[in-house]
Amino acid sequence: MRVTIFGTGYVGLVTGACLAHSGNHVVCVDIDEDKIARLTRGEIPIYEPGLETLVHDNVEAGRLRFTTDAAAAIDHGMLQFIAVGTPPDEDGSADLKYVLKVAETIGAHMTDYRLVITKSTVPVGTSDKVREQLAQAISARGASVEFDVASNPEFLKEGAAIDDFMKPDRVVVGVDNERAADHLRALYAPFNRQHDRTMVMDIRSAELTKYAANIMLATKISLMNELSQVADRLDADIEQVRKAIGADHRIGYHFIYPGCGFGGSCFPKDVRALAHTASKIGYETEIINAVERVNNRQKTVLFDKLQAHFDGDLAGKTVALWGLAFKPNTDDMREAPACTLMEALWDAGATVRAFDPEAMDETRRIYGERDDLVLCHDAEEAATDADALVLVTEWHIFRTPDFHELARLMKQPVLVDGRNIYKPSYVAAAGFSYYGIGRSAAT
Ligand code: UGA
Repeated sequence: MRVTIFGTGYVGLVTGACLAHSGNHVVCVDIDEDKIARLTRGEIPIYEPGLETLVHDNVEAGRLRFTTDAAAAIDHGMLQFIAVGTPPDEDGSADLKYVLKVAETIGAHMTDYRLVITKSTVPVGTSDKVREQLAQAISARGASVEFDVASNPEFLKEGAAIDDFMKPDRVVVGVDNERAADHLRALYAPFNRQHDRTMVMDIRSAELTKYAANIMLATKISLMNELSQVADRLDADIEQVRKAIGADHRIGYHFIYPGCGFGGSCFPKDVRALAHTASKIGYETEIINAVERVNNRQKTVLFDKLQAHFDGDLAGKTVALWGLAFKPNTDDMREAPACTLMEALWDAGATVRAFDPEAMDETRRIYGERDDLVLCHDAEEAATDADALVLVTEWHIFRTPDFHELARLMKQPVLVDGRNIYKPSYVAAAGFSYYGIGRSAAT
């Protein structure tokens, strides 16, 4: 099939590359000329395992192209995906100006039937606005062309996006007629394994499904984080609790890892956006608001533990951070717990020595040069002469350090384990004071 994708951000690029790989002819459009030039040269602006090879192979095979020429791209694809950004407004609602601008552009140029599919995460009701915008743009030039709109939210995890796209648990398709449903069923047929993964539903339900999924997952995390706070104060070990409750298949092991709060570009934004949507229509959410509040509080847990250890005096101390990205396998630092921690440490007069396998450039971009931030080349260098070490992001490379050597390198052997990846007694045997999340009773 011929497919056009507006937006070469994370979602647009992964979708474009994966759809090209299943044999479609894909054109990706962006207004950013520099980005398109770089992509055409094979330079991928984000770190995502497997993406560079996939883009390269499909460009070579002639199935994937990048352009800034919107008119030609609209002419190309019967299927037109909107995958542009929806940055949050100040009040937490998603800003739709880019999405609606694309709809207007498509309406201004299309000369034949087009199926316009929203992939960006957008508030419920956005497809109606996309439809209006298309109709207006078509009638503004006195034309009459048929089109359908659809909602097809993505469920990709950063760091595993290619796999998630190629082997989806489900493909959610929101449509209001069979023609649109058939096109999307055909497009996604190559990704069905064992059984049909496509779930066709009405447009609003599809739009809400996206938020519901992320909020359900975010709720599991906040609830576990809250339980970890209780466990700490009750001298219980949340890790034993986690394993025991996860064994109940109604609860399951996924997304019940306590930590230092969820970050990224999706959970925090989507939790706020749905609460805002509900409030606008007169319904004040309770659980969803609490998910956000608990998360904000959890993001200070690492700092709180350091403060407690040093009796509230962190001025002049040096703290090593392992991991800065909001999770492993990405260089993304949006809403990352590491940012909350670093900023609190600086306010308290401490110096940070930091290392992350992928996010060093991003850290430099966000914080620039400053005396109280030392960017290190590896984990050992970060720990050298530090008064405390904090494991913030659970990259594989941090999992089995030589704790005796670490204790020797550090000024004081203090370890805050923000993801509960170490065995407390093992770390303590090397002379460390160990602090986990909700593990005051752990051995
Ligand atoms: C999330 C969803 O998992 C995807 O399904 C969804 O498509 C995506 O948002 C999106 O809306 O685009 P992502 O933000 O890439 O994906 O990251 P996750 O792997 O879900 O992790 C989110 C945060 O939760 C991270 O900060 C992670 O450290 C934290 N987390 C996750 C926990 O603290 N505990 C857990 O048990 C799991």
